[in-house]
Amino acid sequence: MKEHEILHELGLKHPTENVAATRRAWIEAKLTDPRQFDEGKYKKPSDRLIMPNFRLTEDEVEALVTVLLGMREGEMPESYRFKTTEEQDSIYEGKRVVRKYNCTGCHQFSIDTLYLNDGIVLKGMVKLEEDESLFFQLWEDNDSFGRKAGETVQIETAQIKERVNAEGGDISSFIIDYHVEVEGRVPEEAKVFTPPVLYKEGKKVQSKWVFDFLEQPVGLRPWLDVRMPTFTLPAEEATSLTRYFSVLESEEYPYEFIKETKSGYIAKKEEECPGYLADARKLFESKDVNCASCHVRGSITPDGEPSEWAPDLSLAKERLKPDWIKRWLLDPQLIQPGTKMPKLFREGVFQDIFPGEPEEQAEAIKDLLMNLPDEMFVEDDAETDDE
Ligand code: HEC
Ligand code: HEC
Repeated sequence: MKEHEILHELGLKHPTENVAATRRAWIEAKLTDPRQFDEGKYKKPSDRLIMPNFRLTEDEVEALVTVLLGMREGEMPESYRFKTTEEQDSIYEGKRVVRKYNCTGCHQFSIDTLYLNDGIVLKGMVKLEEDESLFFQLWEDNDSFGRKAGETVQIETAQIKERVNAEGGDISSFIIDYHVEVEGRVPEEAKVFTPPVLYKEGKKVQSKWVFDFLEQPVGLRPWLDVRMPTFTLPAEEATSLTRYFSVLESEEYPYEFIKETKSGYIAKKEEECPGYLADARKLFESKDVNCASCHVRGSITPDGEPSEWAPDLSLAKERLKPDWIKRWLLDPQLIQPGTKMPKLFREGVFQDIFPGEPEEQAEAIKDLLMNLPDEMFVEDDAETDDE
């Protein structure tokens, strides 16, 4: 029989007709049951087909077939290509730079997560572990658990399905041990000596400040014995890191508009409420609020041991996001559980100094910090009281 006659009998006009279809069928069969082509053949074990059976589902086989066929054409079908968004690219790039400089050697970028058997997910920090339970401080309100950020809950180990520990901060345990062993402090107290946790940093700090700080670190907490190293980063890497902090928190990048420092902002507040900034300052300096009893202000340092101090407030307007300052003032525990900064503004307090809701008092202090007059952070006026 001639070749064209055989083809004719098979219903084909040309030998390569339908090759695409047979290749598809072969790949499909191969993926579904890789060793079927050995069946009925006598082979030495070493000659047998080796691809394992992955027990793929029909859909998975279909997807793989499409990709494999597509690859031969040199182009993958559009819908099978992994597309990244600009945000994902930024996060990927940020993580790369973080790894390159081992930022996690000192900083924690995330918090611990516990997945409980009943489907509840808890986010926070493990404080203490015992044989059959652990103490977990919540960093987020948890409605299904009925607990608030800042609260510490005891969880039976048996209740925990999976636990994902925050990465990083490796240096912290050494620092804590040092202050515990050498100075006899309790671990909780020794934590003030560890590098800051950078969880949600993008919500806290202004992008421009982060960039400048990465290029040229400044001391924020004079009591620390570790320093943020000067990496002399190339500008692109400092930019990648800065963008990373913003994108992780879906914050605006690169520019955030800070209305508080623009001309007219305070004037308008003064118009609505004469003496606005002066009253805010009275509140700031009043005996019961007394921000300066803990906070460094420029060259003025509080009384007492440096380990009891808090960061320099003269840097706030360049460094912090106004919305963050306000949320922080209203409830520091919600942002950083365990912090020593007290919640100062509660319903009905300080009405003789600055009448209004806690919201309004926090708003005024935030406006003051964003417009802190120079004389509030030079030694001369340090002891001004609220008389
Ligand atoms: C050797 C330890 C160490 C390493 C490594 C390190 N840092 Fe720091 N970092 C610090 C310390 C300590 C501070 C606090 C400085 C202060 O408060 O005076 C700090 C502060 C910061 C802050 C400001 C936090 C705040 O209070 O708002 C940022 C942002 C930061 N680091 C980012 C990074 C990034 C990004 C990297 C990697 C490129 C990095 N750090 C690597 C020790 C380190
Ligand atoms: C009992 C001490 C204490 C008092 C009083 C106090 N703070 Fe704080 N504050 C802290 C501590 C400690 C921190 C650092 C939190 C941390 O990083 O753990 C802090 C952090 C802050 C920050 C963030 C600073 C930064 O650059 O990271 C701001 C802003 C702030 N406080 C404002 C105020 C204002 C305004 C007042 C008065 C209304 C005030 N605080 C009163 C202890 C105090």
